[in-house]
Amino acid sequence: MDKNFWHERWQRNEIGFHRDSAHPALENHWPNVVGDLRRPVLVPLCGKTLDMHWLARQGHAVVGIEIDRRAIESFFGEAGMHPSIDESGPMPSWSAGGITLFAGDFFEFAPSSRFGLVYDRAALIALPREMRPGYVDHLARLLEPDARGLLITLEYPQEAMRGPPFSVMPEEALAFPEFDFTCLQRDEVLDSHRRFAEKGLPWLREAVYFVRR
Ligand SMILES: C[S@@+](CC[C@H](N)C(=O)[O-])C[C@H]1O[C@@H](n2cnc3c(N)ncnc32)[C@H](O)[C@@H]1O
Repeated sequence: MDKNFWHERWQRNEIGFHRDSAHPALENHWPNVVGDLRRPVLVPLCGKTLDMHWLARQGHAVVGIEIDRRAIESFFGEAGMHPSIDESGPMPSWSAGGITLFAGDFFEFAPSSRFGLVYDRAALIALPREMRPGYVDHLARLLEPDARGLLITLEYPQEAMRGPPFSVMPEEALAFPEFDFTCLQRDEVLDSHRRFAEKGLPWLREAVYFVRR
């Protein structure tokens, strides 16, 4: 995907993917996924998702990577937070309340230590099919060998709509060799995503996976 595509989406505020509350699947499944672990959580392609506040409230340090600075500034600004900004490294970062967001391309993100937990909602499915193996490969390199987390995808007949979001069917997800995937939940969600029904989708499912490195 062209980076400008996303910059234009943020500039025009065309962010239909953004939710105004934490994702229910995160609240329902995260406690079982992590148990007592309170390790830092990696949130790739994070946007300004409120899920990061929820994760921070559970006691996790949160590290997000987002290509558009407006998203990062909105994330902290809308929460009334005043982040400190660090421009000393290859990617500038904003930090407050245990949440650090790096502004840059996820594929160039090279932190000094690995993560034990990951949360991907609408990141894998933001990328076209040809970019997804590279995304999963890079993600795996950023994670500790025993890392775990949640992945939330959408499934629909790809020929019915141009992404993003792209459809990631279970056959594709389960074939990525870097992770074990266990489907925890799969729901029909077209009724609650009317904008996709208006684009002609005949059906739409949301899938929630427990992923293990
Ligand atoms: C579909 S949105 C999902 C955002 C967030 N995960 C959520 O649930 O609201 C995808 C986000 O990834 C960002 N993005 C796209 N490509 C990226 C890249 N290569 N590196 C970092 N961020 C990227 C976009 O700007 C956008 O905010």
